Amino acid sequence: MIRTFGLVSALALATALGGCASMPGFGPSSGSDMPPLPASAAAPAEYARDTHTYARPEIAHVRHVALDLTADFQARTLSGTASLDINGVPGADEIVLDVKNLDIRNVTDAAGAPLQYETGANDPIKGQPLTVRFPALTAGETRRIVVAYSTRPDAAALQWLTPSQTAGGQKPYLFSQGQAILTRTWVPTQDSPGIRQTYDARIAAPEDLRVVMSAQQLTPEGEAAGPGLKAWRFRMTNPVPPYLIAIGVGDLAFAAIDERTGVFTEPSRLEAARAELAPTADMVDAAERLYGPYRWGRYDLLVLPPSFPFGGMENPRLTFATPTIIAGDQSLVSLVAHELAHSWSGNLVTNATWNDMWLNEGFTVYFENRIMEALYGRDRALMLASLGWGDLQDEMAGLPPADTRLHLDLEGRDPDEGLTDVAYEKGAAFLFTIERIVGRERFDGWLKGYFERNAFRPMTTELFLRDIRTHLIAGDAELERQLMMDAWIYQPGMPSNWRPPVSGAFGPVDAAARAFFADKGPASAIPWAGWSTQERQRFLAWRPEGAQGGADWLTAAQLADLESSLNLRDEGNAEVLFAWLQIAVQHRYQPAVPTLEHFLTTQGRRKFVLPLFTSLWAEGDWGRPIARRIYAQARPGYHPVTTGSVDAVVGRP
Ligand code: BES
Ligand code: ZN
Repeated sequence: MIRTFGLVSALALATALGGCASMPGFGPSSGSDMPPLPASAAAPAEYARDTHTYARPEIAHVRHVALDLTADFQARTLSGTASLDINGVPGADEIVLDVKNLDIRNVTDAAGAPLQYETGANDPIKGQPLTVRFPALTAGETRRIVVAYSTRPDAAALQWLTPSQTAGGQKPYLFSQGQAILTRTWVPTQDSPGIRQTYDARIAAPEDLRVVMSAQQLTPEGEAAGPGLKAWRFRMTNPVPPYLIAIGVGDLAFAAIDERTGVFTEPSRLEAARAELAPTADMVDAAERLYGPYRWGRYDLLVLPPSFPFGGMENPRLTFATPTIIAGDQSLVSLVAHELAHSWSGNLVTNATWNDMWLNEGFTVYFENRIMEALYGRDRALMLASLGWGDLQDEMAGLPPADTRLHLDLEGRDPDEGLTDVAYEKGAAFLFTIERIVGRERFDGWLKGYFERNAFRPMTTELFLRDIRTHLIAGDAELERQLMMDAWIYQPGMPSNWRPPVSGAFGPVDAAARAFFADKGPASAIPWAGWSTQERQRFLAWRPEGAQGGADWLTAAQLADLESSLNLRDEGNAEVLFAWLQIAVQHRYQPAVPTLEHFLTTQGRRKFVLPLFTSLWAEGDWGRPIARRIYAQARPGYHPVTTGSVDAVVGRP
């Protein structure tokens, strides 16, 4: 390791300054007197230590990243430079960055003079620290360092697709997925959600492809960049956590929805995507009416090839989405409401560490539901909430109690392990509960203020508690008692003030499910054709109570009846198909295996793929050979995020 010159005095100085009070963005929010757009904001060390970064932002932190990279589809690398603008306490003479699986060529100052640097030991989760030395900073000084590097072909954030993995079949494709801690596999920076950075980029790529990023496009048509290449420039002037730096490169076309919304995807899919996602425009309007102005300019979507490992990813200005939401009937657009809501909960007010992911995801599920209610009414919103509650109960049943608390301690674990319905649905349930107790109007007033007061700042559970106690509870001891906030956050399971959503609209569905599943009636009696996707999901969420062969267990004849009556072999809605395949696998229903195989080899969304492989695996002698066979075929098409999870279940073929 590099010896740390000046570090001791830098730390002493930071302490003397009273934490980091002199730096923009540091320290708990003091409310409306804070500047609206601090140049940078790092999590104050005294109450939010991010154990998933090597960075020591209290000494020196990155405030701006400038990327100059070339995408090489033959070598499957992005290579070039990342120039980092650094601020720190006076006397700071080094900065620690996060890198994982990067080839570092050299590090220089802005003038090109070499700087001393060293990479430390590799941790399988966190990667390596990259420590760069420079002459000590003086007060208020910004220092630029330039890291020349190249990504590796197996960078976990990047998926390089062959033409055959795209809809068009003619051109290759590249996309990134940064959350939670994968940005360090393609950008050498301080990869912690509490360390906000503005960024700009110039990306050179083959001239027949278009580059998009989570930032403003400065070159809508690209510009010449040498033989066979075009360059595309971007700028993000709002400080963002590094997990929101994102790129897509491919044969992309664009269609506008309204003046500020639109969709990018491959040309052959453009019209279907635009038609499906048309409600986006109204969603942005509805979101603004609820919780204040949309602060990112445009809101576009990029509909990715089917290997995209998530449903959606809230990259600023450009949500990335799975093509499995293009159902043909706009029935899965709640995903857009979700990713859009992150433009407030997550992208404006950001979890300072992954231990508090509920602050991103729980707030977002709540906000998503409010957008859906605004567009589609109370019944639809209640159905969605009710499906979420069902998912949460299923998931919690299989989790250790400690992991059913909202505030987690993920030290030493992959932050992905916090990615459960607890963060999403228990988080949202907490907010629904506060809303019920204080009333909607008062709750909305507080939530809107919370986004304003904390915009562009890192948030922790402790800061959240401070904010809600100051601005909503305001010393009302009876209200404090009723809310049971400490139980929600720090205790396992659901507190006693939780009232599950009751959706009267599901009554007929539940009756039909009882008639078929429990009373063994004919599938022809199920009024399937008249049901919405949410009603179909509810119906198929049914699970046998007992073991195989028990009273609730379905026979092969019943499954065949269900499959043919509901025409499940030709089901085009990915959520419905997934729910059916779960039932089929759990009953070892062999005739569904070709449908299963097709589903698992034509999309790579982890939410679908992982549970199905897990269910197959649980079916021992019957399921494991099927899992191994299908996975050997499917794995080359999956994103590293998905293979990483499935490998842990099925093993590497
Ligand atoms: N931000 C998440 C995706 C994510 C979370 C990626 C943590 C990596 C680590 C995104 O907003 C999300 O929640 N996506 C969901 C869809 C949503 C409608 C619940 C998904 O991908 O399934
Ligand atoms: Zn989310």
